[in-house]
Amino acid sequence: MAEIIDGKTIATELRAALKNEVDILKETRGVTPGLAVVLVGDDPASKVYVKNKGKACEEAGIRSVQHCLPENTSEERLLGLIRDLNDDSEIHGILVQLPLPKHLDQNTVLEAVSIEKDVDGFHPYNVGMLTLGKPVFEPCTPRGIMVLLDSVGIEIEGKDAVVIGRSNIVGKPAALMLLNRNATVTLCHSKTKDLAARVSTADIVVASIGRPGFVKGDWIKKGAVVIDVGINRLPDGRLTGDVEFLKASARAGYITPVPGGVGPMTIAMLLENTLDAAERILGK
Ligand code: GUN
Repeated sequence: MAEIIDGKTIATELRAALKNEVDILKETRGVTPGLAVVLVGDDPASKVYVKNKGKACEEAGIRSVQHCLPENTSEERLLGLIRDLNDDSEIHGILVQLPLPKHLDQNTVLEAVSIEKDVDGFHPYNVGMLTLGKPVFEPCTPRGIMVLLDSVGIEIEGKDAVVIGRSNIVGKPAALMLLNRNATVTLCHSKTKDLAARVSTADIVVASIGRPGFVKGDWIKKGAVVIDVGINRLPDGRLTGDVEFLKASARAGYITPVPGGVGPMTIAMLLENTLDAAERILGK
């Protein structure tokens, strides 16, 4: 039976340690880190995420400012708000919640965020630095995956890693981070042929597809590490991952549960990136 990687507990410990660091920054420099979260429109899932991010900030002693704009907000108005936040010395991190309404160009919006405040790591500069192996801000979810792997002492160098899903938010940056740690990485996606064969040779599997139970338990190599990034809501309201959890657990060495695996790490990493942003801005 696989050992469960308890992301909830690991994230709770990280957040307690982070609160300590925030307190030290306040005492020694008189500065409270500030995070601005921008939400456009009424997407219910995004609203929940934004609310949870605000709550987590408060608990960590980080000042959180939320800007909720209507669905029909013009690009001009959104870019104006981002410019104001870029210039606001009390704001150290800026996060634009995705997805944006269709009439807004995501790339234009993400490029408007100051690279020094880009706590999501989505600005092309930060994407480029990660690609060059010189990361500054790393996207929160894949950073959380790497911290989980390190927390349970999994060796990454020389391992065969299969990442399923090529999104800019998770799959691509996760593949780059594993590569930067000297794993041999295969990035699979919806057009990949014979996914089962690729997964069956992997030492580390990262599943980020967004389809419940898409990765079959009997694909998993004995002793492999399985990281399930999926958060899928079943018709009965329960959350489930992208991996057949019970069947995969019978074969894997380590596995993350859903909920309670990768999910809690994303917010913990956002708080860390915000503290890092404040420290970098102050350090200059
Ligand atoms: N939507 C889904 N995941 C994320 C994330 O990590 N950051 C932002 N800004 N939006 C998201």
